[in-house]
Amino acid sequence: MAKKVTLTRFIIEQQRDLPGVSGTFTLLLNDIVKACKQISHLVNRGDLIGVLGSADSENVQGEVQKKLDIITNDIMVDALSWTGHLAGMASEEVDGIIRIPKHYPKGKYLALFDPLDGSSNIDVNLTVGTIFSILRCNATEPTLEDFMQPGTHQVCAGFVLYGPSTMLILTTGHGVNGFTLDQDIGEFILTHPAMAIPPDSKEFAINMSNQRYWEPPVQRYIAECQQGEEGVRGKNFNMRWIASLVAEVFRILTRGGVFLYPLDLRDPNKPAKLRLMYEANPMAFIVEQAGGACSTGRERILEIKPGGLHQRVPLVLGSKNEVDRITAYHLEAK
Ligand code: F6P
Repeated sequence: MAKKVTLTRFIIEQQRDLPGVSGTFTLLLNDIVKACKQISHLVNRGDLIGVLGSADSENVQGEVQKKLDIITNDIMVDALSWTGHLAGMASEEVDGIIRIPKHYPKGKYLALFDPLDGSSNIDVNLTVGTIFSILRCNATEPTLEDFMQPGTHQVCAGFVLYGPSTMLILTTGHGVNGFTLDQDIGEFILTHPAMAIPPDSKEFAINMSNQRYWEPPVQRYIAECQQGEEGVRGKNFNMRWIASLVAEVFRILTRGGVFLYPLDLRDPNKPAKLRLMYEANPMAFIVEQAGGACSTGRERILEIKPGGLHQRVPLVLGSKNEVDRITAYHLEAK
């Protein structure tokens, strides 16, 4: 029988090869994984336990919260507060820094997360997920400035997909590996080692209903894809839009493609939708580690110096040659 490599074994063996790494990081990852297993169970039980539907409240960003947005945030905060591995946290659902209660020990990492990404899909039974990013921190009482690190400083990034299978996609800066939750034994098992994004692709993902608000470089790129074999690209493209970033990135990790949530001119106060610290940065780290690229259209996501916990950025990610082409269109249009 083929040997099953569990996530814990994989991480311990990987960390052994890295000088100066303590076991704390493995323990922190275990805390996150435990919380995500709990979330997976709730998402899977759905209406049987009454967790679907709206919470009749708004989060800090004025978005209507689902009951599961609140429940999953509480699960993450609770699982990560007491173990002594973190100095602080930040979540999509909470305005400021989430502090570790005084009576618990503090650790040397910061965790930033979106506890339930794509939650507008939850009531229609489509894939949602948890995204997380881990940074180092020297302070025991971190200030906002301690969180304001560019994505290149991430120690680890990952996301858990709650889909037909529950999967964890992870990078610690040494490639990207995918693990599937074996429900029988309650362990994540390595099923997708060394994930790699093909450099070329014929598939794009964008919310076409926003087309009238896009800038000219994005209009140009999408128009050329739509022209297919008859146009300058000389090949036909396919389109997908799941409206769930975790599901789109997993598809791109599996078979390539490009995802765009570009700058748009709908609302001058909100020129972009996705959040840098717990959506764009972790996805950029994963995508780059799998050989893809990730940009705002004008600059590399991972090099942005953050200006706030909930800062929004335009996001273009996926197959390297397509992302480079879109970036070139933006720079030409300057
Ligand atoms: O807020 C995140 C998110 O739900 C992403 O997961 C997804 O890619 C995007 O928003 C969908 O946005 P829209 O509903 O505008 O298509």
